[in-house]
Amino acid sequence: MRISERKIEEIRVSANIVDMISQYVPLRKRGKNYIGLCPFHNEKTPSFTVSEEKQIYHCFGCHAGGNVYSFLMEYNKISFVEAVQQLAEQLGIQIDYESPEAEEQQSEAEILYEINTEAAKYFSDNLLNKKEGEFVKEYLGKRNIKPQTIRTFGLGYALDSWENFISFAKEKSMDIEKTIQLGLIGKNADGRLYDKFSGRLIFPIFSPNGRVIAFAGRILKSAERKAKYLNSPESLIYHKSRILYGLSLSKDEIRRLDKAILVEGYMDLISLYQNGVKNVVAVSGTALTEEQVQLLSRYTKNVVLLFDADTAGIKASMRSIEILLKKDMEIKIVTLPENEDPDSFINNYGKERFDELTLMAKNFLEYQTEYYDSIGMFKDPAKSAEALRDIVSAAALIEDELKRTFLIKSIAKKFNLREKLLESELEKVLNKTKIREKRIISSSETRKARENNIGAKSVAVDSFTVKLERDLIKLLFEDDDKIIDFIFANIKTEDFQGETNKKIFNLISDSYNDNGNIIVSSLIEKLTDDDLKNYIFEITFEKYSIGKNWDEIHPGPSKDEILSRLARDIVIKIKISQIEKVIKENSKRLENSNDDNEVLQIIKLNAEKEKEKSEIRKNISEDLA
Ligand code: CTP
Ligand code: MN
Repeated sequence: MRISERKIEEIRVSANIVDMISQYVPLRKRGKNYIGLCPFHNEKTPSFTVSEEKQIYHCFGCHAGGNVYSFLMEYNKISFVEAVQQLAEQLGIQIDYESPEAEEQQSEAEILYEINTEAAKYFSDNLLNKKEGEFVKEYLGKRNIKPQTIRTFGLGYALDSWENFISFAKEKSMDIEKTIQLGLIGKNADGRLYDKFSGRLIFPIFSPNGRVIAFAGRILKSAERKAKYLNSPESLIYHKSRILYGLSLSKDEIRRLDKAILVEGYMDLISLYQNGVKNVVAVSGTALTEEQVQLLSRYTKNVVLLFDADTAGIKASMRSIEILLKKDMEIKIVTLPENEDPDSFINNYGKERFDELTLMAKNFLEYQTEYYDSIGMFKDPAKSAEALRDIVSAAALIEDELKRTFLIKSIAKKFNLREKLLESELEKVLNKTKIREKRIISSSETRKARENNIGAKSVAVDSFTVKLERDLIKLLFEDDDKIIDFIFANIKTEDFQGETNKKIFNLISDSYNDNGNIIVSSLIEKLTDDDLKNYIFEITFEKYSIGKNWDEIHPGPSKDEILSRLARDIVIKIKISQIEKVIKENSKRLENSNDDNEVLQIIKLNAEKEKEKSEIRKNISEDLA
């Protein structure tokens, strides 16, 4: 059953987020907003903030955030539709469901989800209820997997035949083309169809919200010369670099404990979870990606890496460390005893020993240094220098200077290395990265400049202007039609220098064109990019707010007038900054040019630009008088 967009909007607008959340979390007023202890992670001082004006919430601790619907979904662990229904019931609003015809027009993604859900049920039924599934149950039993765990993870079995799933798909009138896209059915060179996962133990892969987006299949007869695991291909609903296996089940525990344990395999995750270690996620076969870390960082900043003791495991953890550090995560590393993986360890030694092991987790620098020490790198001067450089480059990824210095000191002490040496090495690496960052910025600017045909010499993005752009976006959220119209009339996407600002501006302008209004709480509902979402939260919850204490600062003009003035000033400055950038670029060309003709031309161009500047000042001022 589908609820119309309009109804969803109507219910959302009728609710008051402060009243709604107050039923679950005690809130008290602070300034414009309400604050309370975050229900999504453990905390002693409140960082959970609710804006009545904007009808959204955001936790500065764990970065949970959203509107009334996302709160209900997260808090009560229910689906979007259930959240809408619950809220409608509370508000006494009648929901009218859309007609069957509208239902047929469900989105492409919905169709894929549905096929996967049906397939997951089919696989599970094979395992639990068919006689062909008996030996799989035995296999899982031997591996200590309990029946309850099989159900929790929706494990299944794909019958060992070429056409069993195909018959099922036809019986259910599935779109066969789509089952091929989803990797459930394969197509031979001669066009014959066959069951892709046949004979395999099936692990459904869930989205963070618990929808089946893909499958992994493990071979059951070890003699077979096939890949041990077969994974669904990427599809509209499955991007493997953005998914962490197990997250839909573990996210609450991760928030509660404010810590995630990261393992490599499906079986590792399942065994830990079954044994009560429920704050666990798996990367499942791929190297950890930045997107996965981004996803995880929504729930916690603290990660314990639990990788095999073999060299491949160590290499994988080193790579993961770098990505985690870049995203500002706190990392601890656990080394397992030789020949154990998390699955075998917890089955052999139990949860208590496992907890002891994770309590002894080392910080990554210690881990790395110890590893180099253990393979004798500090004994050989040449290798020792190489090892130090590696250690220091990892340390350089930590943004927090205090933390960095502290770690370097502790490493020096522990391994008897000269602190000064480490420090000067660190200094070198830091300088190098700074230069590189600068280069990256200017090279992209150069490209842009070239595209605009205004000379190859670059002028970096002006950070002051980027701040102004941010204020301009803030103004768009002030719900003042006159100002909104003024801004859209004068500023275009190209006027923005900050990339994020540009994206948000586009989004807002689309939403304004579609609905004629700009409502933060509805905007974020459609946003899938977490960085953008967080940026919007930041902007709307920022301590410094436009129009705050205006009456005291400027006795006289009303808030309206002040906002208009501000909008005008910002628009003028952004426009002028854009022109000044061009002038600067031209001037650089001027310095380097030996061609008299070109020089003259540039001088003329710049004079025109100067004129443009004064015109902008005049025209725009008149525009919003
Ligand atoms: N993997 C994969 N494709 C393979 C082999 C491994 O995608 N051909 C991924 C799987 O996510 C797997 C993880 O790498 O879970 C770790 O591999 P491995 O340790 O071999 O498997 P386990 O999960 O430990 O499975 P089992 O305990 O059943 O051997
Ligand atoms: Mn294993």
